[in-house]
Amino acid sequence: MHLNVAAALIVNDLGEVLCVKRGASKFASTSFRWEFPGGKINVGETPAQAVVREIQEELSMKVRTLADAPIIHHTYDEFSITLHGILCTPITDKPPVLNEHIDACWLPADKLWSLEFAAADMPLLTWLRERTFGSHLRTQIFGRAVTFLDDCTSTNDILLAQAEAGAKEGTLVVSEKQSAGRGRLGRHWLSEPGQALLFSFLVRPTLPPDEAATITLVAGLAVTLTLREMQISVGLKWPNDVLLKEKKLCGILCEAQSSIHGIEGIIIGIGINIGVVPEAIAYRAIAPKEKNIDRLELLARILKTFEALYGRWSKGGLKALRSELDACDAKRDKLITVKMSEIPTTGIARGIRDDGALLVELSSGEQIALHCGEILQWE
Ligand code: BTN
Repeated sequence: MHLNVAAALIVNDLGEVLCVKRGASKFASTSFRWEFPGGKINVGETPAQAVVREIQEELSMKVRTLADAPIIHHTYDEFSITLHGILCTPITDKPPVLNEHIDACWLPADKLWSLEFAAADMPLLTWLRERTFGSHLRTQIFGRAVTFLDDCTSTNDILLAQAEAGAKEGTLVVSEKQSAGRGRLGRHWLSEPGQALLFSFLVRPTLPPDEAATITLVAGLAVTLTLREMQISVGLKWPNDVLLKEKKLCGILCEAQSSIHGIEGIIIGIGINIGVVPEAIAYRAIAPKEKNIDRLELLARILKTFEALYGRWSKGGLKALRSELDACDAKRDKLITVKMSEIPTTGIARGIRDDGALLVELSSGEQIALHCGEILQWE
């Protein structure tokens, strides 16, 4: 088996990208552009070793060896270059074009050295995603078993099948595309390929079913807190949305895995817009303006935040997350209209109760608790 490194990027000390990619071989110091052909990883080589060998062979120059240089650094007469990482794509005849979306993985150089050659015969992208994701993951349980897919109907479907086959708590499914992504209330979930983070993970809570149903809010908190840590000003909209600038950035769909014994597990499906949102929903959906959000890193961070919240929630229910819940509630003390049945209810949102219900204060002063529904309008 061999893998192809389709392209490698070299960035100079000023941060300018010197492109190393497959195709014609030319080294032009003036344009800071350097291309080399091939890009084949031989059996037993790591991608990093392959890049080093290619550079040495192509330019007959000496680069420092793997042992003494975590990042390749080379000084020429005119300037010096540093290899910051390699960009790997599946084997293809077409050279990747810089600044265009390509289905590729960026492997930073300091991560390359610890990669070992793929043990199993699996698609390059899958292998790279697993390795890259693994290098970000800081959890004990969530994401430790993971399936990366290019396409599927819905990550919730794939995970439900795995859950029924006995998958462990924390099992994760991630996909680039979904042909039948779904949301709450029988809606479709739309996303452009590669422009969203689409994943589902499994919990097997021990709390009674009524309390376990509040897990949607725990997942919403994990997404909100993680994005806020990244300086993205999001808020949680009861019961399952994360909003940015009053538009939907993220939706959460929890589905039960049940048997004759009751609920065996809950599939938490999360979709987060990262890049371009489909035109049909652009009036109500949004993605962060920040470029270069590394989706696998974001996913690893969300799972870490979730794991910590989940530990507290498992012992004390939603009550144990009171301060986070109040701090993240985007609609608290706002005038809202909620659709629960056919007749919408309007009032002031007074927060989320420990049982997950939304408290709404009516114009009469009476407070009612809504256990399900959807906030349609808000001030
Ligand atoms: C909603 O807004 O109503 C919930 C949307 C949930 C979308 C995610 S994307 C990953 C997972 N797979 C699905 O089919 N749905 C969830």
